[in-house]
Amino acid sequence: MTQDTSGTTTPMGFGRMHRKEDARFIRGRGTYVDDVRLPGMLHGAILRSPHAHARILSVDASAAEAYPGVRAVITGATLETLNLAWMPTLSADVQAVLATDKVRFQGQEVAFVVAEDPYTARDAVELIDVGYEPLEPVVDARRALDADAPVIRDDLEGRTGNHIFDWEAGDRAQTDAIFERAEVTVAQDMLYPRVHPAPLETCGAVADFDKVTGKLTVWCPTQAPHAHRTLYALVAGLPEHKIRVISPDIGGGFGGKVGIYPGYVCAIVGSIVTGRPVKWMEDRSENLMSTAFARDYHMRGEIAATRDGRILALRVKVVADHGAFNGTAQPTKFPAGFFGVFTGSYDIEAAHCEVTGVYTNKAPGGVAYACSFRITEAVYLVERMIDVLACELDADPAELRMRNLIRPERFPYTSPTGWEYDSGDYPRALRLALDMAGYDKLRAEQAERRRGDGPQLGIGISFFTEAVGAGPRRHMDILGLGMADGAELRVHPTGKAVLRVSCQSQGQGHETTFAQIVAAELGIPPDDVEVVHGDTDQTPFGLGTYGSRSTPVSGAATAIVARKVRERARLVAAAMLEASPQDLEWSVSETGGRWSVQGSAGHGRSIQEIAMAAHSNLELPEGVEGHLDAVTVYNPPNLTYPFGAYVCVVEVDPRTGQVKVRRFVAVDDCGVRINPMIVEGQIHGGLADGVGMALMQLMAFDEDGNHLGASFMDYLLPTALECPSWELGETVTPSPHHPIGAKGVGESATVGSPAAVVNAVLDALRPYGVRHADMPLTPANVWSALRGSPLRT
Ligand code: CDP
Repeated sequence: MTQDTSGTTTPMGFGRMHRKEDARFIRGRGTYVDDVRLPGMLHGAILRSPHAHARILSVDASAAEAYPGVRAVITGATLETLNLAWMPTLSADVQAVLATDKVRFQGQEVAFVVAEDPYTARDAVELIDVGYEPLEPVVDARRALDADAPVIRDDLEGRTGNHIFDWEAGDRAQTDAIFERAEVTVAQDMLYPRVHPAPLETCGAVADFDKVTGKLTVWCPTQAPHAHRTLYALVAGLPEHKIRVISPDIGGGFGGKVGIYPGYVCAIVGSIVTGRPVKWMEDRSENLMSTAFARDYHMRGEIAATRDGRILALRVKVVADHGAFNGTAQPTKFPAGFFGVFTGSYDIEAAHCEVTGVYTNKAPGGVAYACSFRITEAVYLVERMIDVLACELDADPAELRMRNLIRPERFPYTSPTGWEYDSGDYPRALRLALDMAGYDKLRAEQAERRRGDGPQLGIGISFFTEAVGAGPRRHMDILGLGMADGAELRVHPTGKAVLRVSCQSQGQGHETTFAQIVAAELGIPPDDVEVVHGDTDQTPFGLGTYGSRSTPVSGAATAIVARKVRERARLVAAAMLEASPQDLEWSVSETGGRWSVQGSAGHGRSIQEIAMAAHSNLELPEGVEGHLDAVTVYNPPNLTYPFGAYVCVVEVDPRTGQVKVRRFVAVDDCGVRINPMIVEGQIHGGLADGVGMALMQLMAFDEDGNHLGASFMDYLLPTALECPSWELGETVTPSPHHPIGAKGVGESATVGSPAAVVNAVLDALRPYGVRHADMPLTPANVWSALRGSPLRT
């Protein structure tokens, strides 16, 4: 195995290596769903509701139907005749495909026009006349719970309010008892605002129903192609082998492309109705208004502690705004996702949390945007609370954390809410981050600046633990589908291999890293391993890519299937060498993988020679089939728990509220790193995301439920101007239960960084008596926090 730092050579296994897929991406030769063009293809466009809450009185589509070039207009009434007006969501709710009775958020889908070209479809959408009776909208999540609040989901039988679920974790009595006798308690309300993953590629689909074969092919940028196929089968009543879901190259998913959106179903119905392929592509505003909202957690945290800073208990109450339909993609038993890990990285005696989910007149929300099911919210809460406590005790936030972190000898560690953290050395990671940042020097500079009235220095710390790699299947399923992943490995006679996996990359580099896993296990160079994903006709069943689960689950499946191949290769090699299989030993060197007779390295066969022999007329032992191919299904025994220590340094100008991120130190531990270069890229992206959420992003609504951020003029993406040059460090604590010791990393930085940035800004504001302000910390919000009147714009 070579560890190359330039990324220009190919290691035989783990190490830096340029991404194989970049050969097509940097040449502009990727195939995204909008690149799919089929003969005779029609185009769809959606009519959306201008109201957040209104009864539909009438829909007159006659002018649109008569418009030249229009081939079909599909309304809720059309879908009702096919029993398709409502579809199941991933959280066992139902969602309107096209509204029939009421519209429940601004931008909701009301009708679908299919035409010869996209412009005609859009023009015809304008000709549909819908009569609405506006109703009082429910925009505020707390208001949704009022007894006199309008009932949004009157389609659900017996529904008298907007309450969706109550969920709790931990020991209430034990926690309350500790609070009663604690020396110090602090409480803080905070909002994790509604944000949007805003991928560069919006959502879309091409549906092609072949009336002759009865086969439906759907191209769409889904993160979970197999789950989509099963859902389409259940909804449409088509057998699964008659449905092929192809997820081509994806321009960013971040959790927002897990669910099924009404546009996908409309494209399918459009193709069935017209007998021609139909493409539907969202534009930017549609994407920002109607698909993939995240967070929207209204939280109250409380800590009980001793006066010298030992944290004893944590208590949390959350109102979760799920929008008009509960469409979150959480494992069934976890309606609040993995929020239960809210005690974070600290050894706390007792904890209790309650989460109440509510409907509001907003688009369905709660997607796991670059995090493992609500862990971002959980980490933000606990990391803000630690700083609030530090403020109360006038303690150093780094020392307070160090004092309460879970010690290395406590692993595997069971949290007070029942999560088993697999491995970690938290103090080591925090010490490294503080050393890299030059913490003491920064504090000295801060003290110096506090003597003047110019820009103030803020130093923010966050320590996060993620829980990634869902299953195990006995605890985790989505709509009854257990969260396990398949892998299939074929080795051709010349020793080249094809790996087929059920996960689907949205830019994370799986075609490279998964080939590297095969290379490490079999000594076949990564360039000789092709990774096939994203096509249900070509890949084994599995639950897909989100919550950083690809490496923990599909990556493990890859290692296991390669080991199966290796064991087959041992038997074939034994026959070739006329030796007993037990007398052979395996080695991987720079030249490749090899089985040889123990103690006699020269007497062996390379994996390529063995592959050829497995396909030849070589006499194999009784019961040994030919070929080397293998399949497996990996059911993870536990989640993996990556972690990290982040230090953010900001300068805040108290006269303008302007925040500048001066430095950001990120020490990540994701166990064994397959490709450190890709890992660093994942972390860079996540850190930028965190800066965006902390300082710039908010999906705001006015009191009528009008969406105020449907373009990139309003919803700001962080650029190089807002981001410092990231300073990365690492520790490596392998996962004890993962076959190669890897933990996921794709979302770590998005999870850990917002709290570090917010803590830094509030640290700068500490002399002004500001203890908390909600994200995004725009200049206006910082300025008004300084003056004691928080704005929310
Ligand atoms: O599920 P998703 O791909 O989003 O997240 P992930 O499993 O954390 O992987 C993100 C990328 O980083 C993939 O290409 C991984 O194989 C790579 N990775 C790695 O090289 N080493 C790790 N320990 C974890 C991830």
